[in-house]
Amino acid sequence: MRDQILIGGRWIDGSEGERIPVLDPATGDEITSVAAGTPADATAAVDVASKAQIGWAATAPRERAEVLRACWSTLLDHQDELAELITREHGKPLADAKGEVAYAAEFFRWNSEETVRIHGMIATAPSGANKIIVRHPPVGVVVMVTPWNFPAAMITRKVAPAIGAGNAVAIKPPKETPLTALRVAELLQDAGVPDGVINVVPTRNSGSWFDAATEHTATRMVSFTGSTEVGRVLLRRCADRVLKVAMELGGNAPFIVFDDADLDAAVEGAMVAKMRHSAETCTAANRFFAEAGIAPAFTEALAAAMSEVKVGNGFDDGVTCGPMINPAAIESIGTLVGAAVGAGAEVATGGSPIDRPGFFYEPTVLGNVEPSSPITREEIFGPVAPVITFTDHDEMIRHANDTEMGLTAYVYTQDLAKGLATAERMESGMVGLNRGAVSDPAAPFGGMKQSGLGREGASEGIYEFCETQYIAASW
Ligand code: SIN
Repeated sequence: MRDQILIGGRWIDGSEGERIPVLDPATGDEITSVAAGTPADATAAVDVASKAQIGWAATAPRERAEVLRACWSTLLDHQDELAELITREHGKPLADAKGEVAYAAEFFRWNSEETVRIHGMIATAPSGANKIIVRHPPVGVVVMVTPWNFPAAMITRKVAPAIGAGNAVAIKPPKETPLTALRVAELLQDAGVPDGVINVVPTRNSGSWFDAATEHTATRMVSFTGSTEVGRVLLRRCADRVLKVAMELGGNAPFIVFDDADLDAAVEGAMVAKMRHSAETCTAANRFFAEAGIAPAFTEALAAAMSEVKVGNGFDDGVTCGPMINPAAIESIGTLVGAAVGAGAEVATGGSPIDRPGFFYEPTVLGNVEPSSPITREEIFGPVAPVITFTDHDEMIRHANDTEMGLTAYVYTQDLAKGLATAERMESGMVGLNRGAVSDPAAPFGGMKQSGLGREGASEGIYEFCETQYIAASW
């Protein structure tokens, strides 16, 4: 198990010798500890990256593409081992963790294909006086701050396009799940990524780490996935150096079920949209809007499905929902449920933390929720489904869009025209139409409004890590 920081291809302890304990959220026990990087280590990582980037950017796109392709197969060759690490430190069920590794690896296969297709443009100026040549060189050193909910995939979603485009990176993985990050980095090195192109520095003190990394004059870009609250703070800090940013921030997804929806399909989709990866995703359905004719049956069927979820240690057979990441998560979920119930919501199933070691909460369905209840304003990040009944379509759409977030929305109806029209009215970067999952490395992932800036995946993803240079040329 790798437990040191990675700078310039060397595994070293942090410059002050501190350690970060890594907990098993299924028991609350310490699994191990990893070296804690300091601001000086963050500076060293950017330094090394800036040197490594020069040679890496000069390689042929095909050469980089082949390294990315090798990263894809190497990660898949270690799927079981990585999945065990993910379940150990994050807690998600082993089957979900295996799925995450496949998802994580796919970012490399997809971006290996995009690496050789970073296209520029040449045109004749309207005056005819010159040519306009547009090219897309790599942006430079990218500082990455990644979340704990997908310990592998949220790293590879950023790293694959960044290095494919010819950049080098300094990564701050989350202190909750550093083991996966370190092992992924080691495997990427084994696959042929040159020393210094990927540097990984866990830390106990994110603020000073980030300041040091972004104050370094070689840093050109920050790519962050996490909460909108933290994203705002990082954006302010990036403003001081006018750094390019890519931000994947919070969500508050509406899940709309029209009367004419296929009930079984809607419940199945709702379970995916809510419970995927232990309900700790930013794409998670956060507010269920059910039309009056289907609302009682939908609420009952959803409650039945949620009450059948087996909650427990992600390594145990049949478990489909693991622990939450820490005690603070349990407290925050409990506060939101308490406020909703206080405002008149009915508990259809669940409603309490589970009394056992580790950090577990019952899969919960709340009926009769008011559209203005606090639980509809906050990202729950846990296994709780509040159901709001609606009659008026326009009013429902107003409520669905009445949030500063705009990441994902879900719509269930058998009337495709109505479904597409509703999807078009959603103020969200992604819409699942009769589908409970939207994530795909081949699709542009990202949010409108305060859910983020930029897109990851698809063809857009690699251009986020490129500059645009225009040359006015005469010949
Ligand atoms: C996230 O929760 O941050 C990402 C979810 C996904 O990629 O599906």
